[in-house]
Amino acid sequence: NSDALRLTVSVLSVSPQKWVTEGDPVTLICEVNSSSKDWTFSWYAVTISSDCSHHYKLLSDSSRGAGGIYTVSSAALNHSGVYVCRAERRKPSYYTTISKTQPLWVTGCSPPVSLIISPSRTQHFTSVSLSLSCEDQSNSDRWRVRRYTESWGLQDCSSSLWGSQTGSTCTISSIIASDTGVYWCQSESGEKYHPVNITVHFFVILESPVHPVTEGDTLTLRCLNQHSTPPNLRADFYKDGSLIQNQTTEMIISNVSKSHEGFYYCKHPERGESPKSWISVRGISVLHTLSSVLAVCPYLIVTVVLIFKCCRMRGTTAN
Ligand SMILES: *[C@@H]1O[C@H](CO)[C@@H](O)[C@H](O)[C@H]1NC(C)=O
Ligand SMILES: *[C@@H]1O[C@H](CO)[C@@H](O)[C@H](O)[C@H]1NC(C)=O
Ligand SMILES: *[C@@H]1O[C@H](CO)[C@@H](O)[C@H](O)[C@H]1NC(C)=O
Ligand SMILES: *[C@@H]1O[C@H](CO)[C@@H](O)[C@H](O)[C@H]1NC(C)=O
Repeated sequence: NSDALRLTVSVLSVSPQKWVTEGDPVTLICEVNSSSKDWTFSWYAVTISSDCSHHYKLLSDSSRGAGGIYTVSSAALNHSGVYVCRAERRKPSYYTTISKTQPLWVTGCSPPVSLIISPSRTQHFTSVSLSLSCEDQSNSDRWRVRRYTESWGLQDCSSSLWGSQTGSTCTISSIIASDTGVYWCQSESGEKYHPVNITVHFFVILESPVHPVTEGDTLTLRCLNQHSTPPNLRADFYKDGSLIQNQTTEMIISNVSKSHEGFYYCKHPERGESPKSWISVRGISVLHTLSSVLAVCPYLIVTVVLIFKCCRMRGTTAN
């Protein structure tokens, strides 16, 4: 027997959470489970090449996070990705293991490409076909679909067995539970847009919108059963663990506000319950409001001027 070897691992976490909105601050934290001090930390992004092999690419500004904390003051869309870290000690010289992978997802307010999912929902039954399409304004073919799953890690649709990529569309002919993960559009130059959670489940699923709901809009949720026609179930709907509506085939929330954001699921007494899905609510931006006011402005001014002129003309005619 050899002497026992103490294994020191580095653990990567992300704060406040791994889903952030463009512009939010986010911090990656690398920790070592050792009492000794004087560690320096290195930061890597996980990449895949066309032959499906994975690489750790040292971040160009890795030294910024040498103290174990890598801070991004304003997340950009292409900070989305899968990261690992590792610590190194000079004296006595020692490298820790590479940390487990940690994804970071940055969602944008108006990305230049949309991810169209068909059927259009985030939860899907097993054994059906699913297609994911990246559509930009010029209908270009430059987008590929990538995914990150617990089971398989980082994968590219165009060089894989799970799906087939034609142009900017990825098709999975028969999905299985381990296809559950995050899917997004990526260009050859590495721009990443539109991460979307996809959940594959048996029997009962929640039908909810793929994209964030805008404040003031109507949100419709349904509970679907794999083996009944029509698939709609009369079910109970829950938000963040508490019952919000009883025995209904369709849950409709009109005039959605920020307070409706949360994890939703549905439950049928015999058929079972669906997985949870996060529903996010997008505020109406000040800029948007401002631009609509500005758009209306010329009409207002013209109307006021016309009324004014009209009154003066009447005055003149009366005189
Ligand atoms: C660090 O973690 C490894 C693996 O989890 C464990 O075997 C080891 O005992 C830990 N070391 C310390 C100092 O906590
Ligand atoms: C991220 O996007 C910026 C422009 O938005 C671009 O200049 C930069 O090269 C991108 N970085 C990567 C790694 O794709
Ligand atoms: C659920 O249904 C029962 C009777 O069917 C009713 O008494 C109760 O108020 C309902 N609860 C909610 C939250 O709708
Ligand atoms: C995706 O799913 C994870 C885990 O369920 C959740 O924390 C996250 O908020 C979801 N993000 C979106 C945009 O739905």
